Amino acid sequence: MKSRYPGVPYAPRLPFVGSLVHLRRARSDVLLDAADELGDVFGLDLGAEHVLVVGHPADAVRVLEERPDIYPDKGGPTGFRRSSIPFLGGGLSTWNGMDAEWRRRRSGMARAFRSHSPSSDISPGLAGATVDRVRSILESEIVADLATALLGRRPDQLEADKVALGLRRLAGTFWRGKMPGPHPVLARRTRRDVAELELIVQKWADIALATRNSPLVCHVGGLTEVQIRDEVLSQLLSAGTLAMPMVWGLDVLARHPEAQDRLREALAPRSQAVDYVIWTLREILRLCPSTYWVQRQASIDDELSGVQIRAGSRVIVHVPRVHRHPEYWAEPDVFRPERFSEGASWKRAWMPFGRGPRSCVARSYALDAITRVLGNVIRTHHIEPLGAPTRLVPAFSLIARPAPAFEIRPLDAS
Ligand code: HEM
Repeated sequence: MKSRYPGVPYAPRLPFVGSLVHLRRARSDVLLDAADELGDVFGLDLGAEHVLVVGHPADAVRVLEERPDIYPDKGGPTGFRRSSIPFLGGGLSTWNGMDAEWRRRRSGMARAFRSHSPSSDISPGLAGATVDRVRSILESEIVADLATALLGRRPDQLEADKVALGLRRLAGTFWRGKMPGPHPVLARRTRRDVAELELIVQKWADIALATRNSPLVCHVGGLTEVQIRDEVLSQLLSAGTLAMPMVWGLDVLARHPEAQDRLREALAPRSQAVDYVIWTLREILRLCPSTYWVQRQASIDDELSGVQIRAGSRVIVHVPRVHRHPEYWAEPDVFRPERFSEGASWKRAWMPFGRGPRSCVARSYALDAITRVLGNVIRTHHIEPLGAPTRLVPAFSLIARPAPAFEIRPLDAS
């Protein structure tokens, strides 16, 4: 589907490839810069297709929460979720409609996550590790913990490591699939890692089916073997989404030693300052939302920020812009957890987990896991920045730019 939006300003683009080169190569977030110049609704040329980017919190709330009747579809046939169905299958994260089966699975899955607490030693071995190593340790731990939540028993760590690696390769593959040109030929290494991932996930799905008390089967129930495999894979795919704010959070804290001290105090037994932990978490997710955008397709004509939205338009809620919108956030680029102590107006402009009926089913689990990881590190370690202070912005390719750069050191070694 390639259609233009007449009369709508467009983000910078080149012939044939549209904005893809700008998006991939830029040192900062091109869409944030475009919003400053073009306003709250603008077109984006992705080479193969055109989308409308919206960044006003009120529009985001309308699209995701208030009018799911107008925006029921998760981005049309070429949207990320649906284009990943051939590999991911029909799990909850690729489910498009809001039918009875979706509701049943969603509430079952929510129950499975509610009855599981993230492992408390999710962060061993982080001290002294490179940022890339920190990220892969966290991804493996999250995969192992998610599998425990679904299967009811902790999987072999080596298998969890392989699944985490395969998921990382897979995420890269999806991404390249969006680039112009012929369909990507998967590199041999990627094919091997993804094949291994598939085998292990199939094995885990068999375990879930064979284990009488496996949470996935108990809470969701009535799933076939294939559906269980799809559901396990579709949940595991979020491991990267969860590891990202942990890594970015460590980077942000490295650049704010005063926040590390306050957090350490807030985490102490019988502390009166526990609110600071929650504010810090919200502020990290505001500055670095790991779901960069949320897609929908308009089923009928609508209007957003005074711009006519035609039926069939693919609308993208650009979460970083919502989270820095000048009408809602003072000094939006500044890390200031205390802003969350001031009234409740932030609530309409904070949506790292999406909003409305399709919002993240694992939100509480994810918040709990991030708190535990950051808490574990801060209690006994301090985080040092490597390099000068920078403005960390999640970029289109979901890699924060500039890349996080920090080192974790034991407190008594400082
Ligand atoms: C910090 C970590 C996470 C963030 C920022 C996040 C963000 C989001 C967002 C923005 C959505 C809404 C998508 C939409 O409206 O189209 C979503 C949905 C979803 N998330 Fe998460 N997520 C996180 C972690 C997880 C984890 C750990 C899991 C499960 C293992 C998970 C499972 C899901 C599922 C199944 C949906 C689809 C719900 C539905 O369509 O009904 N998420 N997430």
